[in-house]
Amino acid sequence: TAMNGQHMESSDNPLKVFVLAKKTINEIFLDINAFVTECQQFVKDVNEEVVTRDQLTRVDSFIDKVVGIRDVLSRDHMKVAFFGRTSNGKSSVINAVLHNKILPSGLGHTTNCFLQVEGTDEDEPYIVVEDNPNTRLNIESVQDLANALKTESMGDATLVRVFWPKSKCSLLSDDVVLVDSPGIDVSANLDEWIDKHCLDADVFVLVSNSESTLMRTEKNFFHKVNEKLSKPNVFILNNRWDASASEPENQELVRKQHLTRDIDFLSSELNVVDSNEAKDRVFFVSAKEVLQSRLQSQPVNSNAFPDGFQLRYFEFEDFERKFEQCLSQSALKTKFAQHTKRAQRLTSELNHILDAIQQKSSQMMTSKCEQRKELMDKLQFIQQQMHLLTDEVKHQICHMVEQVEVKVSSALTE
Ligand code: GTP
Ligand code: MG
Repeated sequence: TAMNGQHMESSDNPLKVFVLAKKTINEIFLDINAFVTECQQFVKDVNEEVVTRDQLTRVDSFIDKVVGIRDVLSRDHMKVAFFGRTSNGKSSVINAVLHNKILPSGLGHTTNCFLQVEGTDEDEPYIVVEDNPNTRLNIESVQDLANALKTESMGDATLVRVFWPKSKCSLLSDDVVLVDSPGIDVSANLDEWIDKHCLDADVFVLVSNSESTLMRTEKNFFHKVNEKLSKPNVFILNNRWDASASEPENQELVRKQHLTRDIDFLSSELNVVDSNEAKDRVFFVSAKEVLQSRLQSQPVNSNAFPDGFQLRYFEFEDFERKFEQCLSQSALKTKFAQHTKRAQRLTSELNHILDAIQQKSSQMMTSKCEQRKELMDKLQFIQQQMHLLTDEVKHQICHMVEQVEVKVSSALTE
């Protein structure tokens, strides 16, 4: 009910549904934790004739399980991973989505490892390199980050976590984590990449270059992802669409060509969506323009951009809305559904144990009752016997008295 009340508010921001669900499920697990702890105390206190050792250890193990789930839960977030060839604009897209120049971007091969941007409650940004998890490096600007990455010598599958103040970015405060990757055309480590960085991703964004076309390397990568994950959520961004403004006569034709190929790739080749749904997974945008206009404090002067800027901007917003919806839904399903199922299993097992304990103790009560009843019966029998006995004695005495009387009276007559 708590969720329903706030559901209305969150309907315009799908990410809030996840945030709210996470809060709710956290509270539920807090209750479960308290309940399991109470049960643990109870079974410890109960007479050892009633509770078996096995039941005790099982209840103890439930505590560990609940702690484990709560731990995973606290780290659950919505994860979007961006892939594509070098210089297609992956880092620019992430910066545009974040409304901030956080990740280094530029000509040539820029990103050389995995960069995961996530929110922190602290006021200053910092980074943590996977190989050195206890050391924080302070960064104040993109240049700092770029320099830090240059001085660290690491493999391209290495993860660098960029902690950015939640106060500066609503997306990060809504528990979204964005992962930037090196160009898929410059690495031989694609399998390692997938195992390390893709298995828990909720949404994948393929940043493609609309000036060329979907490349075999890009397709192959997603085929591999598709082999490991069942029906991954894939969006295709045809980036650098601002370039089409210089060739207005071909624009529609090129767009159609890209669209057909992208839809075909998603629906027929990968078979992750049907061709109708695929239409909602393909967008034509310019990350560079969106970022530039979002960095300006004044209202956007669309004259400063090539023709069609407004449309491309709207299309980027449309992409954001759709991927946020998909992200929230997918994360709810894959992450929380699992926890809910485990919690259900756990509480029902606990229920069984408590039931068994209750049954055992009431059995013992009945058997005690039976013993008592037996004793009572015996007692009654003995009392009856006593009665009979006394009757007998009475009878005998009477008999004796009678005999004595007879003897006395006969003696008298003699
Ligand atoms: P790597 O990290 O090297 O794999 O590249 P990347 O995919 O992260 O690309 P990045 O964001 O660094 O962008 C490469 C260059 O393309 C930069 O100079 C960007 O400014 C430029 N760029 C990115 N998006 C667009 C766009 O939509 N239109 C135009 N015209 N340029 C863009
Ligand atoms: Mg990059």
